[in-house]
Formats: sequence, structure tokens, C-alpha cells
Amino acid sequence: MHIAVINGPNLNLLGVREPERYGTATLAEIEARVRERAAPLGAEIAWFQSNHEGALVEAIQALRGATDGALINAAAFTHTSVALRDAVLAVDVPFVEVHLSNIWAREEERHKSLLADLAIGVVAGFGPDSYVLGLEAMVGWLRRAERPEPGALEV
Ligand code: DQA
Repeated sequence: MHIAVINGPNLNLLGVREPERYGTATLAEIEARVRERAAPLGAEIAWFQSNHEGALVEAIQALRGATDGALINAAAFTHTSVALRDAVLAVDVPFVEVHLSNIWAREEERHKSLLADLAIGVVAGFGPDSYVLGLEAMVGWLRRAERPEPGALEV
């Protein structure tokens, strides 16, 4: 099972960026935690971060046919980017939206996500654990999709 993790702008500065809000773990440390959790779940992780909207669009476009699922923390682009929304719509890959912080407990401009209604679900507010919880949720969802419960496909 392949899971891609897509990280948006300024997440490369985790560890030094507003540590009182985002904690002191670096993005590399979060990546290590996700990979550590992925191994026993049988998931292979592809990790990507960019500060550039176009690069994120291309990374999402490349998911088509290349991954089973994704975790997406689009950071500030979550709240602004129709281009990322269109990319996610175009590739039709199941994903979980993740955020370190609880975006609904913050400024109003962060309450809206242009991706959330396209996601299987959203994990926000648990710091680096949001990624681990999102991974567990994504893998669980994919496993259920592979082996639907009896009757689950009946309408
Ligand atoms: C964030 C929340 C966004 O509002 C913010 O712009 C970020 C990080 C989070 O993980 O909490 O850069 O996505």
C-alpha cells in the first residue's frame, strides 16, 4: 500500500516556526514518525514538501495511479487555493486532510478549507500526532475499501 504525504508552505520551518503553536518537532522528525508507524501497517510512504503552489499542484497531479491514498497538509493554501482543489478533484485519490493546529480554534480566515469536503476526513489539532492519526485512518479506510463488509456494496 502506497501513501503519499504532501506538505505545503512554511512547514519546512517546523521546529523554529511559532513553536508555541506548532511545537518543536521538525518536519523531518514528523516524517520519521510517520515512516515508523507506516512500517508495521505495511504502508510505503512518499514524502513531499514545497512552498510553491504550482509544485504542489504537480505533486498532486502525479498521485494519479501512483498511490493508494494521501495525507495532505496544504498549510496556508488550504484556505486559499482553488488550484489545489482542482488538482485533488482531477486525480480522484482518497486522502485525509491533516493539520497540526486546530484550524477552527484560530483566526476566521483559517476556518474555511477548500479541500475538506473532498477529503475522507480531517485530523486537526494534535500536533505531529495528526499525521500519525491521519495515516492510521487512511490505511484503515483503504483496507475496508479492499474488503468491504458483507452487504456493504448493496444499495
Ligand atoms: C496548518 C494550519 C494553516 O492554517 C497554516 O497556514 C499552516 C499550518 C497546520 O498544520 O496547523 O501553515 O496547516
